Amino acid sequence: MDKYVIRGGKPLYGEVEISGAKNAAVAIIPASLMVDGVCRIENIPDISDTDKLLTILTHLGAKVRTINKNTVEIDCTAARRTGAPFDLMRKIRASYYLIGSMLGRFGSAKTTMPGGCNFGVRPIDQHIKGMTALGAEVNVSGGFIYADARGGRLKGAKIYLDKVSVGATINVMLAATLAEGQSIIENAAREPHIVDLANFLNSMGADIRGAGTDTIKVNGVDRLHGGSYSLIPDQIEAGTYMAAVAATGGSILVKNVIPKHLDCISAKLREMGVTVEEGDDAVLVSRTGKLKRTNIKTLPYPGFPTDMQPQISTVLCLAEGTSVVTEGVWDNRYKYVNELRKMGAQIHVDGKTAIIEGVGALTGAPVAACDLRAGAAMVIAGLCAEGVTEVEDVHYIERGYQDIVGKLRALGADIVYICEKDETPRTGAAAI
Ligand code: UD1
Repeated sequence: MDKYVIRGGKPLYGEVEISGAKNAAVAIIPASLMVDGVCRIENIPDISDTDKLLTILTHLGAKVRTINKNTVEIDCTAARRTGAPFDLMRKIRASYYLIGSMLGRFGSAKTTMPGGCNFGVRPIDQHIKGMTALGAEVNVSGGFIYADARGGRLKGAKIYLDKVSVGATINVMLAATLAEGQSIIENAAREPHIVDLANFLNSMGADIRGAGTDTIKVNGVDRLHGGSYSLIPDQIEAGTYMAAVAATGGSILVKNVIPKHLDCISAKLREMGVTVEEGDDAVLVSRTGKLKRTNIKTLPYPGFPTDMQPQISTVLCLAEGTSVVTEGVWDNRYKYVNELRKMGAQIHVDGKTAIIEGVGALTGAPVAACDLRAGAAMVIAGLCAEGVTEVEDVHYIERGYQDIVGKLRALGADIVYICEKDETPRTGAAAI
């Protein structure tokens, strides 16, 4: 099995360049299906989730031209509604964005129920509610989702989301883009990648206002035209490196970020005794003294991101005193705690709350990545632990982190990727 082998205990120093935002890319690639012409997308992270989505588009008849590792040109002029590789769709969560974009482009869609990380129940009722309000007939059966605009074009409508949902906000925005008339999404999610998707669509001719607030107005247009767009940097990748240096000690410059998107992460790290200095598009993160305890509750943006919960909880294992972490988004996001316990962590989980007793130091052990961000937490634990940590199931981590091994090695970490086939240690981008 592919794994990372980490010899911990080395502080991190140097600079790390953050890649484009995964959760923006996985919405914008499906959105390109609605574009009439060539769209050039820059700053796409080179990760397995984006690779799978581009492959799905190719199966639908799109021409995908790779300009370089992070830039593609997508031409969906000749795309068809059939031919989707369902096995591939099942492997990623974001494949459900094809419902919104296929409804817009073809007036009907067939996709699989989405995959992705397992945080307990992940319903899609709000997606269905939104599409139905726009006039689509949506059925879920046998592991597939069928949506049909009943032979015509979707019609703008007012949609109140019962729950703040990133996915439902994005999917309804996609479906409304080419609908007839105005749609209003109320109680919308406000994450940076929602704004990025709206900016992408607007730059291709859409008329979307209010993204980033809880009310988004989409004035349907007849067509989208080609153009060029560069994705925002990844908030969670940046936060992961910030958490890593908080855990190991040292000082790193995290480059190509939007510091505003990191406010809630920076604020919590400062409470924990970490120094965070903001520049225009970089943050300098340093930790020399002891870590202090704190309490954290995850919430939709601009609250503390649930996708940083496993990483920050790992750092809190090293803080003096007792910290309380409350998961405010998902029902079951503490599976990784069992792995951290193997490394000496003392964490008691009660429902959505984790009580973390600081232990001063973790000890290296064989552990597994239970999902993408839990995997990142295992890497952080390994970096600061005494001795050797082997992290298995690293395919989860590669879903969302471009060249994590190469980036960490450049910061002085002792981490190698061991490939199952030949057991050869590899150390950089080519490894993945
Ligand atoms: C996205 C992110 C994921 C992140 C999450 C919350 C992507 C590809 N994934 O997931 O990394 O953890 O946002 O920031 O962008 N819900 C319903 N009904 C629905 C939809 C959601 O009840 O129809 C609930 C969910 O169970 C959850 C909450 O709403 O409790 C938030 O989910 P949502 O924001 O939709 O998460 P995703 O878009 O799946």
